[in-house]
Amino acid sequence: MSHDDNRVFIFDTTLRDGEQSPGATMSHAEKLEIAELLDEMGVDIIEAGFPIASEGDFEAVSEIARRAKDATICGLARANLKDIDRCWEAVKHARSPRIHTFIGTSPLHRAIPNLTMDEMAERIEQTVTHARNLCDNVQWSPMDATRTEWEYLLRTVEIAIKAGASTINIPDTVGYTAPVESADLIRRLIAEVPGADGVIFATHCHNDLGMATANSLAAVAGGARQIECTINGLGERAGNTALEEVVMALKVRSDIMPWQTGVDSTKIMHISRRVATVSGFPVQFNKAIVGKNAFAHESGIHQDGMLKNAETFEIMRPADVGLKETNIVMGKHSGRAALRSKLKELGFELADNQLNDVFVRFKALADRKKEVYDEDLEALMRVQAGAVDNTISVKFLRVICGTEAPQSADLILTIDGEDHQVTATGDGPVDAAFKAIKELVSHDAHLQLYQVHAVTEGTDAQATVTVRLEEDGRIVTGESADTDTVVASARAYVAALNRLMVRRAMSGPDADVKGVSYKDVG
Ligand code: KIV
Ligand code: ZN
Repeated sequence: MSHDDNRVFIFDTTLRDGEQSPGATMSHAEKLEIAELLDEMGVDIIEAGFPIASEGDFEAVSEIARRAKDATICGLARANLKDIDRCWEAVKHARSPRIHTFIGTSPLHRAIPNLTMDEMAERIEQTVTHARNLCDNVQWSPMDATRTEWEYLLRTVEIAIKAGASTINIPDTVGYTAPVESADLIRRLIAEVPGADGVIFATHCHNDLGMATANSLAAVAGGARQIECTINGLGERAGNTALEEVVMALKVRSDIMPWQTGVDSTKIMHISRRVATVSGFPVQFNKAIVGKNAFAHESGIHQDGMLKNAETFEIMRPADVGLKETNIVMGKHSGRAALRSKLKELGFELADNQLNDVFVRFKALADRKKEVYDEDLEALMRVQAGAVDNTISVKFLRVICGTEAPQSADLILTIDGEDHQVTATGDGPVDAAFKAIKELVSHDAHLQLYQVHAVTEGTDAQATVTVRLEEDGRIVTGESADTDTVVASARAYVAALNRLMVRRAMSGPDADVKGVSYKDVG
């Protein structure tokens, strides 16, 4: 990878650090799709997974490596030979592979494998050398760097560089640092570590104090030339630095931050929505750049200003992030060709059989909803993409609800081709519908999340419902959209149950659990 002083590499870890977030598990096909979108948008390095963590991770990283066009494909490995070998087996198929190996260097992290400082230093030397013998492109990370003693950080970074690492990543694993410190840390490392001028320093920030983006940009000001980030800031706890935020900050404020990325920002909105869907983590409405309200101007003063000159309240144009003006384009008279072309404009290229399925659902929607907006079509596509082979489907649902409790639900589910009927009561129509489903599909899964969003404005708007279930450590998400919120809820629940069946069948009890602990370096 050539390096010009003002170029900042974007390292996306949505598929590794992001996917590690409890509940954000993605299917194999979803990981391939996200990797392809990242590659297309110009991300420099894709951290595709943690190959030793599970067979599924290994397969996904290998397949992403084989398919990648321009991006470097990276896999994560702890500081042991077995992890590194497994990682190499997965990434070696890439045109440009990278091994990323790490160990926790702070006092708290050193205590876990119970290694002395000297023993750990030796381990770093051995493992980075081993990785380098397999792959020309090795990244090393001292996990919890921002809470590591300065002298020890200096010593370990020097060892990793001497052993052949070409990228040194400085993680703020627990989101503890602040901008001034973040910049200073990188600046001092570059100034004081022998050999620092021959490697790229990277910044990897978590958002526990809401400073991940600021800390990453400060690190770049200090000399870092790789930002590690995720789409929508997905990641454990409060998440990682959001890709869209650093990319747009560098673009909009190039006057004071003269560093460029290779990311095509017009692809941001599409990938943000796809990641939200496949991870089951919706984007908060007022999230910077990709939130539903990020470009909405509701107050009178704002609207007036916007009409006179958009720059009054907008520092970026919606089109810069791939947001198109919402206009009513489709209705019940629109045909298949119009639907195909509209979906293409929205970033969805469909094969004929896929188009047929979507067309049937589009017509059903257009019959009930006069105006079908872009967002409605995107919701249709999200549900379509999330569909697995449905063992269970909702055939009929009627609820009785209102001021007189209890509310009740009459439900027919088709299970393995056979219809089953039940009536259940509950505290509200959704509760009644869910109880009816549970009577027909007995399971011990625990409802972790039930979330409803209106896709557009108006009382005939579709509702998008997300349901997340957990059973024995497996976490699955189902999504559905309908103008009837209770129907969408029942379908989302059933979608999650279908996924659960697939997970159970695919795996032993632990296949989806990240069975490998980061703490275990042995
Ligand atoms: O946050 C962290 O320290 C990590 C490392 C594995 C790089 O994700
Ligand atoms: Zn991390």
